[in-house]
Amino acid sequence: MSSTPIVVLVSGTGSLLQALIDASADPAYGVQVAAVGADRPGTLGQARAEAAGIPTFVCRVADFPSRAEWDVALADMIAAYSPAFVVSAGFMKLLGPATLARHTVVNTHPALLPAFPGAHAVRDALAYGVTVTGTTCHLVDAGIDTGPIIEQHAVAIEPGDTEDSLHERIKVVERAMLVDVVGRLARHRFTVTGRKVTIP
Ligand code: GAR
Repeated sequence: MSSTPIVVLVSGTGSLLQALIDASADPAYGVQVAAVGADRPGTLGQARAEAAGIPTFVCRVADFPSRAEWDVALADMIAAYSPAFVVSAGFMKLLGPATLARHTVVNTHPALLPAFPGAHAVRDALAYGVTVTGTTCHLVDAGIDTGPIIEQHAVAIEPGDTEDSLHERIKVVERAMLVDVVGRLARHRFTVTGRKVTIP
């Protein structure tokens, strides 16, 4: 069986991307990272893709007259690789209607949604004083981290945790979750009924 092509979007370190690249080295995993897109040049994520021989592209909001035109350009750049779906793995831009109309997008988030959506989920969870947080894999819709949830895992907050220490522990769980979910989505047809995502 041939591997399912995906496009991965990154903004920074790309450790989630690296986990997907590593997993896809096994043909049985069933995923081919066809391209990696970034919203800025010079990210470690892009360097990881290049080191693995994966095509990359950069789509910067600042290079377009409007956010809407950036959105259309991003949708086109993704479409050039004909992915079955897109993975937003630490991509720190809200995707627009053109991209979401043309592509199914899976996002991973460092909190147990619907708690702590947005760009500072780890900091917000610590500031709120919860004792358990975690990570969520979900489909992207027009809202901020509001799409149907695919999978969630809890991570306990420990005394003395900082934003960095907690985020690193979340990312260990998040990488395993993302590799598992992306592989299952690639190998099976999945259905979405209301807010319920079913993967056989
Ligand atoms: C991950 O924890 C991801 O959930 C988060 O950025 C990190 C990327 O890690 N994304 C968001 O907060 C999006 N709202 P990485 O660059 O090491 O892969």
